[in-house]
Amino acid sequence: MCGIIGYIGEKNAAGIIYNGLKRLEYRGYDSAGIATLDEKKGIQVKKDIGRVEDINRKLDFLSMDGTVGIGHTRWATHGWVTKENAHPHVSNNKKIYVIHNGIVENYQGIKSMLQGNGFNFYSETDTETIPNLIEFEMRKGKDFEQATKDAVKQLDGYYAILAMHEGERKIVAARNGSPLVVGLGKNENFIASDIPAFLEHTKTVMYVHDKDFIVLNGNYEVKFYSLQEGREVSRPIHSVDWSIEQAQKGDFDHFMMKEISEQVETVQKAANQDESTLFAVANAIKDAKGVFFVACGSSYHACLSASYIFSKIAKMHINVILASEFSNYEDYLTPQTLVIAVSQSGETIDVLDAVRAAKRKNAEIISIVNVVGSSLHRSSDHALMLNTGPEVCVLSTKTYTAQLAVLALLAHTVAGRYEEGKARLKYLWNIIYNLTSASTRDHIRRLADKLKDKEHIFTIGRGLQYPTALEAALKIKEVSYIHAEGFSGGELKHGTIALIEEGTPCIVFSSKETEMEIISNAMEIKARGGYIIGVNSENNEIFDFFIKTPDVGILNPITQIIPIQILSYQLAVLRGFDPDKPRNLAKSVTVK
Ligand code: F6R
Repeated sequence: MCGIIGYIGEKNAAGIIYNGLKRLEYRGYDSAGIATLDEKKGIQVKKDIGRVEDINRKLDFLSMDGTVGIGHTRWATHGWVTKENAHPHVSNNKKIYVIHNGIVENYQGIKSMLQGNGFNFYSETDTETIPNLIEFEMRKGKDFEQATKDAVKQLDGYYAILAMHEGERKIVAARNGSPLVVGLGKNENFIASDIPAFLEHTKTVMYVHDKDFIVLNGNYEVKFYSLQEGREVSRPIHSVDWSIEQAQKGDFDHFMMKEISEQVETVQKAANQDESTLFAVANAIKDAKGVFFVACGSSYHACLSASYIFSKIAKMHINVILASEFSNYEDYLTPQTLVIAVSQSGETIDVLDAVRAAKRKNAEIISIVNVVGSSLHRSSDHALMLNTGPEVCVLSTKTYTAQLAVLALLAHTVAGRYEEGKARLKYLWNIIYNLTSASTRDHIRRLADKLKDKEHIFTIGRGLQYPTALEAALKIKEVSYIHAEGFSGGELKHGTIALIEEGTPCIVFSSKETEMEIISNAMEIKARGGYIIGVNSENNEIFDFFIKTPDVGILNPITQIIPIQILSYQLAVLRGFDPDKPRNLAKSVTVK
């Protein structure tokens, strides 16, 4: 988590960094800071707690001079949300400024060593050890670049670091495990956690690899060194096809609603896979002895749904494992195992760790990922792309349904029914158009009005609708802060039904296949006073509120979640919360 950006060029650095930080806020938004280097004034720093725009109103980032700079938006790991803990952090001699994303696991040892050498610390962060370690190395007579290289080699853990030194027109950077990408411009270069930070300036990028050390110098050259190989290395230049409009809100009040609406197109784009890769992946699945889906959060729910789809369409069992639990299954991995890692960001540390574990056992790795060039993308044997463009809202919406679309297409391909799968996904266009239309939004808004002051919401489904119930509960709680829990319809009576009382809302996902049994479960809830919200193709007399979703069989998980994405959004707005940046969350979870 945390977003970082650096700029070196001929324009005012603070303005470019400020706009970049606004686009990186999905990675963390509890505090922010910028340091710029001006030839006459030296390095200036402004930082505080709060959102980037609020801090700018208070401190006026845009008045900072200089054409070189670094900026950071924080998601706290070590130390409270305070101005002292905000980045950039500075060395004791006030000459070296560092921003950092990740965790320095051995910071306590480094800190004690530095304290033993007379260094003082003014924050609770692990990051503050880095500029001081660089200063410590420079005191041995090394120049800034060499000192930073030697300092970085002493760090354990995952990090992406940018550093500047007083009087030197350059930015040095290093990466291990946390994302970092260089943007190449004309007489200007950028380096950031993610492409949208500089997308309005350039679409030409170079992905930074683990253990790379990078120098962006005053001649507008970008040099890559491998810390492991101890020499300069070359990295390929890529061109990205994301557009800046995709990273802007347009006419929408929030990215969340914009991205929900985009699903009309993104499900189609996800279904538009490179056929040779898709068939190669399908063959790998057929040949494997043991297939694992590995993911976290919403991506895990997509995998759980897909395991039902694979069972029904391809007649195959797939193991679905939470990435953070994957190490418990390591003993079962062999070179014949296939691991399919599913991740929007491609940077979720638990997913990357699972992939590393699988690679140690020589298992084959397939990724299903949105961010081109992400760590997961680069470390897999084959990758299927989600093709949704950037997802800016912290909550996953369009990438969740894109994951489902890719996985459903894959199941059809494994079953030898690729054309049929593609045609079924194409047919969803019209349905999603209606589900995201103004009239559906108005209808759901009436439901949101009824639910906005509730303390608990339950969601249930059976079969394919069970993972949808889990995802619906996650969407509601993470953005509206109303407690929501999802269950398999059959499970509620094994305990949780004790919580149902007069007026407790329960969203019931139903389909032709599951209707009989799930309606019985809904009746059990209704008999105890529950308020039943039915998501189904047909109304039923036990529903107190009905949301119509045409039955699309195996693809119901794609369409039925959409009204609840809209409901979650509206609950957040009605309750006065920012749906794009829910508290305590960050879009890409790059810490354990
Ligand atoms: C929920 C959400 C998270 C992510 C999870 C995995 O709306 O977005 O639960 O799904 O953090 O992230 P990725 O897919 O980037 O690995």
